[in-house]
Amino acid sequence: MIRWTLPAALAAGRWALSRRRRRRRRARPVELVPWAVAGAAAGVSASVLAEHRRATLLRGRAVLVTGGSRGLGLRLAREFGSYGASVAVCGRDRDRLDRAVAGLAGRGIRAHGIQCDLADPEQARAMVEEAAERLGGLDVVVNNAGVLRVGPRATMTTADLEEAMAVMFWGPYHVARAAWERLRESQGSLVTITSIGGHLAPPHLWPYACAKAAQVALSEGLAAESLGTGVRVTTVVPGLMRTGSHRAVLFSGAPEREYAWFALCAGLPLLSMSADRAARRVVRATVRGHGYVVLTPAARLGMAAHGLAPGLTQRVSALAGWLLPAVPPEPEERPGTEAAVQGVPGQVLDALTALNEDAARRLNQPARAGSAPPGGGASEPDPGRSA
Ligand SMILES: NC(=O)c1ccc[n+]([C@@H]2O[C@H](COP(=O)([O-])OP(=O)(O)OC[C@H]3O[C@@H](n4cnc5c(N)ncnc54)[C@H](OP(=O)(O)O)[C@@H]3O)[C@@H](O)[C@H]2O)c1
Repeated sequence: MIRWTLPAALAAGRWALSRRRRRRRRARPVELVPWAVAGAAAGVSASVLAEHRRATLLRGRAVLVTGGSRGLGLRLAREFGSYGASVAVCGRDRDRLDRAVAGLAGRGIRAHGIQCDLADPEQARAMVEEAAERLGGLDVVVNNAGVLRVGPRATMTTADLEEAMAVMFWGPYHVARAAWERLRESQGSLVTITSIGGHLAPPHLWPYACAKAAQVALSEGLAAESLGTGVRVTTVVPGLMRTGSHRAVLFSGAPEREYAWFALCAGLPLLSMSADRAARRVVRATVRGHGYVVLTPAARLGMAAHGLAPGLTQRVSALAGWLLPAVPPEPEERPGTEAAVQGVPGQVLDALTALNEDAARRLNQPARAGSAPPGGGASEPDPGRSA
């Protein structure tokens, strides 16, 4: 009798015990409400504290953003300024710069505009000096300025490559050299906005990819020797962002067709990130002293794929290049403001890229041929602030 009753009793006891435990574990939904409320309160408090910390750390600081006259640079200047920093922004176009500064001042930000061509080393150095003088020092320098030409490699000249290198490699190099000592004194930050294009070369962006690869090495090289200097070096790797820059891009070969694929990729919500979110991430990373920031999941995926299987990634790029417009018998060249697609396909493209068109209006980008010039976004809110 005992041969089967004892194991049966033990099994029944174990079953009853585990049932009781399961019951205990399975809390009723109503019991979870206080935990959910406590979690939400903790989340909100953490975010309020982080905002407060950012405001404390940036209030009264001097921030220089190259290429801050439009696009991401302007959005970054607004973000830094909204926490009480004074900002200096630079660009080549005087009118655009004035509109950007007026827009920043309209938001209560102490801002100074410096007209400068970063492709000229002397102008780059002088611009850093002027910014430091006007702001009373330098706490953060953001190497953000960039130029982009889109088209088949056969339409790109040596001068295109030289321009890309001058603005996106030599410019940041001269800015970093000129600012380093001041940043060392202020225990400040040097931030460089690179690109996923610097990690894997996409088709039809040849000069850009070359210059961005060099810029990544510049920023990583500076970071590698920054320990103990007091300067924090941050490398930012964005994927596609909705900065409205498609209007300023120069398209070559078959401009309308090049514009169509580029504007679509840069404007699709799932593929690209809003400039507002990107700016918030960059400012947060700067304040926290993060060394490396990859901005979009697509960029992270691209970097991982290239690291694990560079040959395969190259073949995928080649396939994408084969699908892109070929060089026409009579190649042309047009800026995005004049390369817009006409008719019904143009209307469909506009509808799909409405968010990027809106960003172009808010971020002081050139107006499309035949439409009114932008107003610098002085009175327009940053919807992303709460998004
Ligand atoms: N938008 C994207 O999807 C994306 C993706 C990855 C990385 N990025 C990088 O993010 C940064 C900002 O991009 P964005 O889209 O905001 O570009 P953007 O709208 O075209 O703005 C570029 C800025 O750089 C300035 N600039 C260009 N050439 C210059 C020069 N020679 N000297 C001085 N300033 C110059 C421009 O002003 P002027 O024209 O008046 O000189 C403008 O203020 C760039 O480095 C870009 O490569 C952008």
